[in-house]
Amino acid sequence: MNFIPTAKRLAILGTQAHALVAASIAEQNGYEVCFFDDNFPQQKHFGAWPIRGNQQAVEAFGYNYDAIFVSLENGQERQAALQKIKALGYNVVSLISPSAKVSEYAKIGVGSLIVAKVYVGYGTKIGDGCIINVGTNIDFECTVNDYVTIAQGVNVAPRVTIGQYSSICIGANIIEEVTVGDSVIAGAGAVLLNSIPSDVTVVGCPARIVKKR
Ligand SMILES: CC(C)(COP(=O)(O)OP(=O)(O)OC[C@H]1O[C@@H](n2cnc3c(N)ncnc32)[C@H](O)[C@@H]1OP(=O)(O)O)[C@@H](O)C(=O)NCCC(=O)NCCS
Repeated sequence: MNFIPTAKRLAILGTQAHALVAASIAEQNGYEVCFFDDNFPQQKHFGAWPIRGNQQAVEAFGYNYDAIFVSLENGQERQAALQKIKALGYNVVSLISPSAKVSEYAKIGVGSLIVAKVYVGYGTKIGDGCIINVGTNIDFECTVNDYVTIAQGVNVAPRVTIGQYSSICIGANIIEEVTVGDSVIAGAGAVLLNSIPSDVTVVGCPARIVKKR
């Protein structure tokens, strides 16, 4: 029998954050991609892909898609949209680049994006709605909680915990067994030698608090 399989259909909600990267990783994983964004109908294309409707449309017609991915910049907004779409019974997926190396003993939650050349080690848990960017290494038995964003080229040593909504900027390094609180921003190139409380911005080497929220 001759048969051309139909591509799996993926809807991406939002054109923020790493939406273009998510779309190209989805294609590498065999999905046919389109976007939904509140800029529709003024904007009908994003990068190489069509925008088919706004957020309400994906909530109403999500059953037409095999999978849905949420690409909103703000962690709390990402969480709200992701939970709403899950509650509607749609299939929210994580997207993992084929060039990422994720241990078979690691766990990745739903709605997370693991970009090219990321390493995730033995026993590490990545939560829901996380973004782990190019070339980041997360070694063994770490816990990266929900809606964390880790930028490019970050090194996370073993048994580190990163609290929810935190953002670790480009080139930062976190040494072993450090606990980073919730909603922490660790600036570009920061070196986290000690645990960091929630709701602060830290920069430098060794990382020091420069802002409290
Ligand atoms: C930390 C960061 C987010 C800025 O946060 P902010 O709340 O706007 O902080 P400010 O710019 O007001 O800076 C506060 C102080 O920290 C210093 N600072 C900011 N970022 C710093 C860094 N990465 N390293 C060292 N010092 C830094 C500032 O010079 C300033 O010092 P001062 O008070 O002595 O003048 C930003 O500097 C940063 O590191 N961005 C990287 C973003 C990134 O990773 N991009 C790639 C992802 S796609």
